[in-house]
Amino acid sequence: MIADVSGNGIAVGLSGVGAYAPERVLTNADLEAMVDTSDEWIVTRTGIRERHIAAPEQAASDLALPAAREALAQARVDPADLDLIIVATATPDMLFPATAAVLADTLGARKAAAYDLLAGCTGFVYALSQAYGQVATGLSKRALVVGAEVLSKITNWHDRSTCILFGDGAGAAVVQPVGDGGIAGFELGADGSGGPDLCVPAGGSRRPMSTAAIEEEAQFIRMNGAEVFRFATRVMVTSAEELLAACGATIADVDLYVPHQANKRIVDHAVKNLGLDPDKVLMNIDRYGNTSSASIPICLAEAQSAGRLEEGTRVLMSAVGAGLTWGSVYLTWTNRGEWERSQ
Ligand code: ACO
Repeated sequence: MIADVSGNGIAVGLSGVGAYAPERVLTNADLEAMVDTSDEWIVTRTGIRERHIAAPEQAASDLALPAAREALAQARVDPADLDLIIVATATPDMLFPATAAVLADTLGARKAAAYDLLAGCTGFVYALSQAYGQVATGLSKRALVVGAEVLSKITNWHDRSTCILFGDGAGAAVVQPVGDGGIAGFELGADGSGGPDLCVPAGGSRRPMSTAAIEEEAQFIRMNGAEVFRFATRVMVTSAEELLAACGATIADVDLYVPHQANKRIVDHAVKNLGLDPDKVLMNIDRYGNTSSASIPICLAEAQSAGRLEEGTRVLMSAVGAGLTWGSVYLTWTNRGEWERSQ
């Protein structure tokens, strides 16, 4: 699906962002001691130097909580006034209840609808589109969108082709009516035929967990890296180009590009083929690895802290992930506080 929503009458934007990463840092040198790999191989092939790893007792909702609190504080929204919480995650606390419902409870969001969304690394962009839809139609006034992942718990730490890639973390954004600007459009899609290229085979209704499944290590991420790489390099470009065209914009209009931090080489390819100025690109994969649905909101929170998100900054975000899914969103950053004061 593709939509230019800028003519919808109500401007909807992100009024606060927050991020959290667990304390423990796992470096490439640490990985050298665990599997047959090298810092040089990991940095050259992925751009990753270190990643954060959750403590054994930490689940997705524990990572989501501080990120959500930071976003809410920045937006000056009381959790009790939230009416929608969506948590994008592939690593929920448990199959059910939803991690979003757990988060609603710990936040004290008593009147919010709360559910999880599974779209792999594209989860945050998909969730943003759902929150946008509810706020734009008046169904919700204050929505919280979170990407939270504890990928370390579904990573096969004996598989050097995947264990070097992933990290844990959470990012959050508050979605509300803003003044001018806000979200201009979305481009979202999925190609389920590529599902087997990036999956966790066991633990669902297709193959419930069993001793045999565990013996085959089927409870962990399996990835056809080369195929995912080919898919990602293609759709990161087409999704962004199609969205900008639908919004009547060009790549020259983009002030800040926030790509899902899948692999530095995938992002470099997109930047080159889109014709983007590298100075406009946000990268933090060197410090976080691939945190799936958390990677874009963590980048946004860092950009906010660094003063790179100002009134009027035009932001393009694109992601690709398990499904296989992809998605892009284009928006104009709006300082909601300024808008409120002018009312
Ligand atoms: N250390 C050292 N050598 C390794 C490692 C490692 N950690 N992992 C694999 N190798 C070896 C392989 O065994 C292979 O050896 P061989 O030639 O003797 O068989 C060699 O390195 C090359 O392996 P490739 O898989 O061809 O390496 P490639 O350059 O494709 O990089 C990677 C692998 C990084 C996984 C790449 O395919 C990739 O980035 N794929 C995209 C996947 C991705 O980003 N997934 C993220 C999750 S999904 C998402 O966010 C979209």
